[in-house]
Amino acid sequence: MPDLTPTPDTIARLRDEFQTELARAATDRDLQATRDRYLARKGGVIAALMKAVAAATPQDRPALGRLANELKIEIETRLADKRAAVGGGPRPADALDVTLPGRSPALGRRHPLTIVRDRMEAIFTRMGFAIVEGPEIEDEWHCFDALNMPAEHPARDMQDTLYLAAPVRGDTERPDDVRTLLRTHTSSMQIRYMQAHEPPVRIVVPGRVYRRDDLDATHVPMFTQMEGLVVAEGVSLADLKGTLMAFVQTMFMPSSRLRFRPSFFPYTEPSAEVDISCWQCDGAGCAICKRTGWIEILGCGMVHPAVFEAVGYDAERYTGFAWGVGIERVAFLRYQMDDMRMFFENDLRFLEQFPY
Ligand code: DAH
Repeated sequence: MPDLTPTPDTIARLRDEFQTELARAATDRDLQATRDRYLARKGGVIAALMKAVAAATPQDRPALGRLANELKIEIETRLADKRAAVGGGPRPADALDVTLPGRSPALGRRHPLTIVRDRMEAIFTRMGFAIVEGPEIEDEWHCFDALNMPAEHPARDMQDTLYLAAPVRGDTERPDDVRTLLRTHTSSMQIRYMQAHEPPVRIVVPGRVYRRDDLDATHVPMFTQMEGLVVAEGVSLADLKGTLMAFVQTMFMPSSRLRFRPSFFPYTEPSAEVDISCWQCDGAGCAICKRTGWIEILGCGMVHPAVFEAVGYDAERYTGFAWGVGIERVAFLRYQMDDMRMFFENDLRFLEQFPY
């Protein structure tokens, strides 16, 4: 230990010694030795100096204390600077605390609509359906005409259509005057699929559809549907009912019941809207089902012979059924949400509530 008689000279001399030693230190290890020598709490030069200063006369103590403190700070700073220059940074032993619990990496997760879509696909795949997709940019013929909705047919008003300013010419034989649009429903894919395949047909078609709708809690201009189509000899309304029953009882509750309400779609006859018994009150009437006991879930029916004629199927020989269900609607009901916009806002506080 150097002479530590507390005087300004002693402090100046210590500074010189430190600087010489620091200049000589070349490695991280040298620096650590210098640090230990000067800054160790027990037995370090500075600690001893502080002790000596504390024992100085009351007149000398404040000035000496200030000098000693300055030296201490200078030593700390210079050591840190040099350590950074040597490239050592904190020593590995300081940097790595092997006793800390691990940090799990942030994993992405599936969007709730993807979860529901995957689930629906799994249910229908198990029943033997193939999953097919189709174009979102469609022509009027596939979206309307072939589905028994000729131009000027009032049923076209059921869907507010987004037409493209310039027609997109694609892969079909359609005439030049056909307008192109963003498909308003996945039903257009019924036509494309039947044009390309002979019966039997058993498909579901998930995909985006577009309508000119204002954005509010229950309407969005872009949403997702899943179309279903079964065509073969001898397919009946009972098959439609059984298929949808199997779907809702797997998707919602084993005790769910279905109700078919007569409805109208140009591409089915008869047509129905399907309600599912409210899972909250089981039909008694509550706030969720607006006191009716039932919740509307999809539209369906037996394929209209005019549709078979449009695709060149023998309408005498084949029968079929079809349905269209909104995936947002299923998810909205299943998760008991009150605002559709949540699906599209990408707010992590919402998205993180769903399983991976
Ligand atoms: N295309 C209808 C819609 O978007 C849903 C639908 C109803 C599809 C009946 C069908 C069907 O295939 O048979 O509202």
